[in-house]
Amino acid sequence: MRGKFITFEGIDGAGKSTHLGHVAELLARRGIKVVVTREPGGTALGEKLRDLLLHEKMHLETEALLMFGARREHLAQVIEPALARGDWVISDRFTDATFAYQGGGRKLSLDKLAALEQWVHPHLQPDLTLLFDVPLEVARARLDAAREPDKFEQEKADFFAATRAVYLQRAAQFPERFRVIDSTQSIDYIRKSLEKLIVTI
Ligand code: TYD
Repeated sequence: MRGKFITFEGIDGAGKSTHLGHVAELLARRGIKVVVTREPGGTALGEKLRDLLLHEKMHLETEALLMFGARREHLAQVIEPALARGDWVISDRFTDATFAYQGGGRKLSLDKLAALEQWVHPHLQPDLTLLFDVPLEVARARLDAAREPDKFEQEKADFFAATRAVYLQRAAQFPERFRVIDSTQSIDYIRKSLEKLIVTI
């Protein structure tokens, strides 16, 4: 049987990474083989592209194309083979991030991004997308002060407002796969809700 594909999404500082490991552990405890991966990245080539995407200045359409280029490789090398083996895949971000960041934040045409999505993965969508949602000020405050901010983390509030808006728009558009997590709640409370949620899939 094909495995399930779960994606974690949210603006920078929303807290998704805190919960990803816990969900992977919950599934492993149920005897499920889990592949944990991330975007951009997840393959040797993808990680090189990630480094460029997070640190180099480039044309905004180049950025979107490279996101999908890295994704093509990720699907071919990691995601598709794992799902075909029956493993579950948890990805820290996937195509919803491109709609939110490049479509919302960067204001690229959503139609162009949809065309690239059709090209790169016409038939695959996550079975479950967990959207960690917080107001911008909360996200800002949570960004690791000790860490050098990458290209995206240096963006201004209106960039993240637009990014968050597209995420929420997509959650409303695809309610069958999206679950919006109120990430202002305590870590413990969110963990418990995720535990309940995960047994339903
Ligand atoms: P992120 O997932 O937040 O990792 P970390 O926790 O290590 O900072 O970093 C990835 C960045 O890439 C994030 O700012 C969002 C951005 N991104 C896009 O702009 N478009 C995409 O399609 C993807 C997958 C990520």
